[in-house]
Amino acid sequence: MAAVENRLLLKHADEDYYSPGIDSYLEYGGYETFKKALTLKPEFIREEVKESNLRGRGGAGFSCGVKWSLVDRKSTKPIYLICNCDESEPGTFKDRQLVHKDPHQLIEGMIISAFANDVEQAFIYIREEMPLGAKILEKAIGEAREKNFVGENILGSGYSCDIIVHRGAGAYICGEETGLIESLEGKRPYPRIKPPFFPAVLGLYNCPTIVNNVETLCNVVHIVKMGADEYAKIGRPGNTGTRIWCVSGMVQKPGYYEIEPMSMRELLYDLCGGPLPGRTFKGCVPGGGSMKILRADESYRTKRGREFTFDEILVDFDGIQAAGSMSGSSGMMILDDSVDITEALANITAFYAHESCGQCTPCREGSLWAKKITARMCTGGAREEDVDLLYDMTGNIGGRTVCPMGYSTTWPVQSYIDKFRHEVEANATANTCGMKSFDERLIEK
Ligand SMILES: Cc1cc2nc3c(=O)[nH]c(=O)nc-3n(C[C@H](O)[C@H](O)[C@H](O)COP(=O)(O)O)c2cc1C
Repeated sequence: MAAVENRLLLKHADEDYYSPGIDSYLEYGGYETFKKALTLKPEFIREEVKESNLRGRGGAGFSCGVKWSLVDRKSTKPIYLICNCDESEPGTFKDRQLVHKDPHQLIEGMIISAFANDVEQAFIYIREEMPLGAKILEKAIGEAREKNFVGENILGSGYSCDIIVHRGAGAYICGEETGLIESLEGKRPYPRIKPPFFPAVLGLYNCPTIVNNVETLCNVVHIVKMGADEYAKIGRPGNTGTRIWCVSGMVQKPGYYEIEPMSMRELLYDLCGGPLPGRTFKGCVPGGGSMKILRADESYRTKRGREFTFDEILVDFDGIQAAGSMSGSSGMMILDDSVDITEALANITAFYAHESCGQCTPCREGSLWAKKITARMCTGGAREEDVDLLYDMTGNIGGRTVCPMGYSTTWPVQSYIDKFRHEVEANATANTCGMKSFDERLIEK
């Protein structure tokens, strides 16, 4: 039987009968879960979220319940909640769908999470390139405020909470939670050093702060609605719930697919229609541009030694990790045999060089070097030793910077070379790439 989606968060999103306004949301049971939440104890909701094993959908896959449990509740300072709607990772476009098509689900998830964590002021940090999303959210918050789901003394409960939409200026680093916090405070978004600046203790305005991704917060509605036990039956242990995968690149039906764990073959063939006519899959970047590439013709091995093919990779947090990469922001970019691997890498390195915030020398300088070297591999003028130089140099970026962005240059470069060395070397020495469709802007000084 062909695999199918399981739409929990996107249940109504693409239906003709549904609009992003509050009327549609209320018609299909919207805010009923929040009303239920108001009858529960905040610590009970926090425990439910922990029990559900919900893992963050923003990148690292850290347990949402554990993150909430780390909040410094002994502090007399206010606790803040920030929804990370920066969605800056290349190949990722799921939060955009949730915001554009069902904004009240996010608002309900936020207000439940705020209530559960004694938060009275919440923020949505949205990137500038999502102007429509910001407008939709502002309108939706207005509607929710009118119905008193947001604001003072909500539904006569004595609990008050407001949500502010804050537009970023459009920078990749503002997706990193401490860079985001700096930006929200009106400063240059240089990520903060952890420790001491763990947001749960020293976050926004040096107060305890929770930062969660859009998709993570939307899931909270369903956990509280269904109860942790029922929710945890979706997916598999350690990978509970559904996940929205953004599939782009060389497949017949690119798009966003909300699924429970399934094999790569099921996702790429049953849902995405397989490769383009006459083409074969070459590989995939499974979790957004910064993640390590996987080869389609390679066999993989579990820790216990069981071999499995690319088609058999289980598309979830642990399945992709078992194949040697990470599910990151679930932005899956598919490459086929028409793609020049060096050209793809040059595109990626140019992006991270452009987006490095410049605070740490290894990332600022190293990403620029990577961009220049991969560009000359595409355009001619590369030297034979450039492949090793690139590999060694990028080995000194990830792990040597304040935030994990250093890995955004290290992981693509090293994995593309590990998996496709012969191709990268051929381009470097014989200029086989020949700048077929190469973007001239990449070789700007
Ligand atoms: C360089 C960098 C960029 C990031 N960009 C985003 C982003 O655009 N959206 C997001 O939700 N998380 C992003 N993250 C992860 C956040 O720092 C943070 O872990 C996440 O928002 C936590 O939410 P979650 O626990 O719900 O996943 C990024 C991390 C790094 C290091």
